[in-house]
Amino acid sequence: MFDNGAMLVEKNTSLQALNSFHIAARAQTLVHVTSESDVLTLLREPDWAASSKWVLGGGSNLVLTGDVKGVVLKVEVTGRRLLRTTAKDFIVEAGAGENWHAFVLWTLEHGYPGLENMALIPGTVGAAPVQNIGAYGVELQDRFDSLDAIDLDTGQIFSLNAAQCAFGYRDSIFKHSSAASSGAVHQSLGLKDRALILRVRFALPKLWKPTLGYADLSKKMLENGANQPTALQIFDWVCAIRRSKLPDPEVIGNVGSFFKNPSVSAEQCVDIIARDPKVVHYALPDGSFKLAAGWLIDACGWRGKSVGQAGVYEKQALVLVNRGPGIDGFGATGGEVMTLAKAIQTSVYERFGIMLEIEPAVL
Ligand code: EPU
Repeated sequence: MFDNGAMLVEKNTSLQALNSFHIAARAQTLVHVTSESDVLTLLREPDWAASSKWVLGGGSNLVLTGDVKGVVLKVEVTGRRLLRTTAKDFIVEAGAGENWHAFVLWTLEHGYPGLENMALIPGTVGAAPVQNIGAYGVELQDRFDSLDAIDLDTGQIFSLNAAQCAFGYRDSIFKHSSAASSGAVHQSLGLKDRALILRVRFALPKLWKPTLGYADLSKKMLENGANQPTALQIFDWVCAIRRSKLPDPEVIGNVGSFFKNPSVSAEQCVDIIARDPKVVHYALPDGSFKLAAGWLIDACGWRGKSVGQAGVYEKQALVLVNRGPGIDGFGATGGEVMTLAKAIQTSVYERFGIMLEIEPAVL
């Protein structure tokens, strides 16, 4: 099946170089999707409807626990352009297959500021809205205009605005499944495995103001004596901060933060502070508190620990890493990563009464 001459289709192919954890696993069928017409071609295949589908961006938010049956759709839609300007914003559009960091740099070089705090986040433009990426006080939803996607069941192309994407902390409509629905796809509850994002549009402010609330960034500002930094300066600082505490996935396999930072009620927070007064916590506008998962994991003694070739990064306990390749030529398995993750969840739960939520998709 899926042997169309115009489209690049691979069979029984390795996914090791296509996931940032560098876990060894194979895809039964891998299709390189460069435009919506590739998806429309796939829809005409007799086996398409019955096949399971998985949309792959940069593979930087994914744990592979085995070979992937069905079809992996590797999104390679390219292009970056200024679409239009409004009174307040530059509306910039990028193909879902563009590398996120290269796109951020491109926007800054062309004079469209606003994405600098999210520099160096691994992955693609199309994956960014799926988990509503964020760093140093700015989330994708703060700069999002709209996106185009294609329904993998019907081939219908549709656009979603921010409200329709239902963004939350590292969350969106694309992370949720829904029961089969007869209505228009974008009106149902979830789009997981049902839609492929083609293009994303960003609203980048003409009257740009720096976002410097995070301690790491205020420290950089003091060190550099720059009290009115440019967007490019902030970009450089964010790159330096990230390089100093997060592993480069090209060198050490990882998916960034492995768990979400949990939110707790004010009462729960008081209880946890009573157990450990040093717990890192931040008040949220709705009266709840966000706790630093990295701190909780660290406090349970996990930093630097390993299960097989899967380990807890020495400089940031929120990041699990692949310590391979080992003697067998392979590194950590998805099973080792998940065994480690579950052991961490159990010990944080036993000590603090909090069940940490896993951030990447587990396949
Ligand atoms: N901490 C420890 N020990 C550790 C790790 C952290 O005590 O091993 C403490 C730190 O000292 C700090 C606090 O925990 O007081 C928070 O740490 P950090 O500033 O490194 O940020 P984070 O909450 O761990 C989040 C995001 C990152 C993002 C940074 C900066 C999540 C799940 N993670 O990490 O996003 O880069 O803030 O905004 O929200 C990602 O999602 O993959 C990611 C890297």
